[in-house]
This record gives sequence, C-alpha cells and structure tokens, in this order.
Amino acid sequence: MSAGEERFVIVGGKPLRGEVRVCGAKNSVLKLMAASLLTPEECVIHNVPHITDVEIMAEVLRHLGAEVGWEDDTIRVRAGEFAGREAPYHLVRRMRASIVVLGPLVARFGEAKVAIPGGCNIGSRKIDMHLRGLAEMGAEISTEHGYVYARASRLRGRHIVLDFPSVGATENLMMAALGAEGTTVIENAAREPEIQDLAAFLVSMGAEIGGAGTPVLEVEGGAELRGTEHTVIGDRIEAGTFAVAAAVTGGDLTITGVRPEHLALPLEKMRAAGVEVQEGEDDLRVRGGGDYRAVDVATLPFPGFPTDMQPQIMVLLSLACGTSVVTENVFESRFMFVDELNRMGCDITIEGHHAIVRGGRKLSGTEVCATDLRAGAALVLAGLAAEGETQVLDIHHIDRGYQRLEEKLSKLGAEIRRVTGD
Ligand code: EPZ
Repeated sequence: MSAGEERFVIVGGKPLRGEVRVCGAKNSVLKLMAASLLTPEECVIHNVPHITDVEIMAEVLRHLGAEVGWEDDTIRVRAGEFAGREAPYHLVRRMRASIVVLGPLVARFGEAKVAIPGGCNIGSRKIDMHLRGLAEMGAEISTEHGYVYARASRLRGRHIVLDFPSVGATENLMMAALGAEGTTVIENAAREPEIQDLAAFLVSMGAEIGGAGTPVLEVEGGAELRGTEHTVIGDRIEAGTFAVAAAVTGGDLTITGVRPEHLALPLEKMRAAGVEVQEGEDDLRVRGGGDYRAVDVATLPFPGFPTDMQPQIMVLLSLACGTSVVTENVFESRFMFVDELNRMGCDITIEGHHAIVRGGRKLSGTEVCATDLRAGAALVLAGLAAEGETQVLDIHHIDRGYQRLEEKLSKLGAEIRRVTGD
C-alpha cells in the first residue's frame, strides 16, 4: 500500500448507540455552488459538508474566475463579471457533477467549454439529455477533443420533454432556462429533494420557477439574478446509511438534521424487513436487533427507492431470513461491489439488472476495496456487522461524500479507525 493511501480498519460486532447529525446534502450543495455563477453578487451557502467533491467544485469555480471562501460549514461564492468559461478535464474527471456548470455559464455568458465527464464505476453517465435540451433552447453544441462547446447568442424558452427524469439534466436545463427569453417547460423532470433545494435557491436569487418536486417544471427566463443566502437540506443518503448501520449492528440511533419524508421508501423497506423506525420532524430513530425478513427492492427516480441506497440495503438484506431481489433500474452497472461483499460471506448473485440476495448470512471480516462512494459505504456497514476485522481500502471514494465517516461512527460506539500508509 503506498504511503498516501488510506484505509478504514474496523472490528465488527459493536451495536451503534446514540445520536448523530447528518451534514448538508452533497447532491444539493454542488449544484448550489454552480448556480452561484448566475450572478456577479455574493452567494452564501450554509450547512456545507467537508467532503472532497465540494473541494473539487470550489476548485472548478476558482478556475472559472470566481472567488470562493470556505469557513466552517459556510461557503461564499462571488462570480464577478470576468468569470471564465472553461471547466477543464483534470477537474471534471475527478468530479463528474462539474458538468452542472454548463447551464449557468451558457445562461449568463452565452458560452461554455466543459470537459465531457466520461463514465465511472457505476455506469456510462451520459449527458445526451443535457445537450439535447440546450440545443432545443437554441445553443450551438459541438463536442471535440473530449470537450463540450456550447454557444448561444440568445436562448429561447422551449417545451422540453426528457426521455428520463435525469437529475443532472433537469438541473442544467433549469439553470440554462433562466438565461432564455420566455418560458421553458421541462416535462418528465427529476423530482428529488435536491432539485427542490436548488429551485428554492434560484427563487431566492430572483428566479421565477414553478413545479419543483413535480414532473413538470416551469421556468421564466430573463430575470436579473442577485446574491442570496441559503442553508442546504440534510443529506438523506447519509441519513439512510446511518439508519442501515443501526439495523445491521442491532443498535439504537437517533439521526438528526434530515427530513424523514426525503427517505420515505428506504424507511418503509426497512420497516418491512423488521427494523423499528420512528419519524420526527427533522429526525428519525432507528432500532435494530431481532430477526429481519427478506424484502424486494427496485431503485427508481424519486420518490422511488434511491439508487444511492442500493448498496447499503443489500447489506441489511444479506442478514435477513430468506431471499430478496434487488433491481437496479437507474444505472447500468451498479453491482460491481457485490463481489467484495461476497468475499465477506454474503451470497448475492447478479442476473442482469437483478441481484438475488440470499439472506441469513454471517459476515466475516477481511480486506475489501471500495469501488465507488456508496459501495464503499456498504463495505463499511458490512464491516460493522461482520465478525472480526475488516480493512476497507481506497477510502478516498468514501471521503467524496461522507465527512469523516469514521469519527461519526466511533462516537456511536463503532471500533473503526483511519490508517494511512504501511
Ligand atoms: C445524480 O447523478 C447524483 N449525483 C447521483 O448520486 C445519483 O445516483 C443520480 O443523480 C440519480 O439519483 C449528483 O447529484 C452529484 P442522472 P446524475 O442524470 O445527475 C442516464 C452519489 O452516489 N442519463 O439522474 O448523473 C445516466 O447514465 C451519486 O451521490 C443519460 O442516459 O444522475 C444514468 O444511468 C451517484 N443521459 C441515469 O440516466 C443523460 O443525459 C440517471 O442519471 C443523463 C443521464
């Protein structure tokens, strides 16, 4: 292992107990930072998690010429008149969501050059819907040498119908529409809480947006957008990860800083499996222990079961009595981590988009590699439930979306530490 690499060393079998507060949602804050490009005035964003993806997005904004300040959990962005126009490959390759600077740049400056993100370990991550929507609004799109070039002397409001409720396409087109003349309707829009948080941020900047959280978004173009101050919603996927941690360790956790309705289906599925879940206004209590029942899960766009909770729920289902079927409908190859789980004693077979999870397993610790962010989180959960020691390698994937996960888990009674180098 090279000196720079870090891993988690976990000794399983400790029930987690106590209270944990989740951070601001990664999949909202990245887009709010990009939206700050739409105005020369300062945007202040609170409840920002200290995770790698936010660091990279800050680098992207600075590369574009914006001033970015970060103190505690507050980020200040001011994209003055001379912000740049290019998001380079060396940054975009490290964080695909950088593609959401495309819409704001075209809306404000009429041009953008953004590296094509390329695929990752969970799928091809195409951007055809982003580009088709921008072209429908009148942008001239070309792709060459691994970059997308978008130019628009004037964008016009259009009625766009998305093939699929893509989160990123909805966000890019909603922001581009703010620079168009007239009204843009986005049909079959994504409905995730993070989309609603972005719409609220844009409205607080002076935008006129209707239908956020429904399949039909209506965006008025041409408003003068000003600086704003906003607090990011809680991270529902971090909350769901801790909920599964309570279940698989037979623990008792109170998880605060999140609205339970943002993860209604994962909580419903956990109840069906036999986990005790109580919901408050912006907190939830999860109690594990006892025998769990097998349940089938199919991932779908919100309000369906979130694909970002699929690896985590697989760990719980591996402990349940009976066989569960988990169907991945959002990404084409989000089962890569299953081999690592099976090395810990799970018995999961992949058949196309379905994972057949044979439960009743006793997990045992070993060395495993994180293949992506949520897979890494699932391996940590498996290590917490396993007998003996688990070492999770390549934890830089986990640091992309979880702020010091090992510190939060240790405070709840887990035996986990971060080890650097040999
Ligand atoms: C966002 O990714 C999230 N990332 C993902 O979370 C999340 O899994 C995903 O939404 C679905 O909820 C961020 O918000 C930073 P999509 P995004 O566009 O926007 C296909 C995590 O772990 N598609 O809804 O890229 C695409 O290939 C990450 O936090 C096209 O074919 O998701 C995928 O199969 C992982 N053409 C599906 O749609 C397009 O133009 C969903 O993608 C766009 C997407």
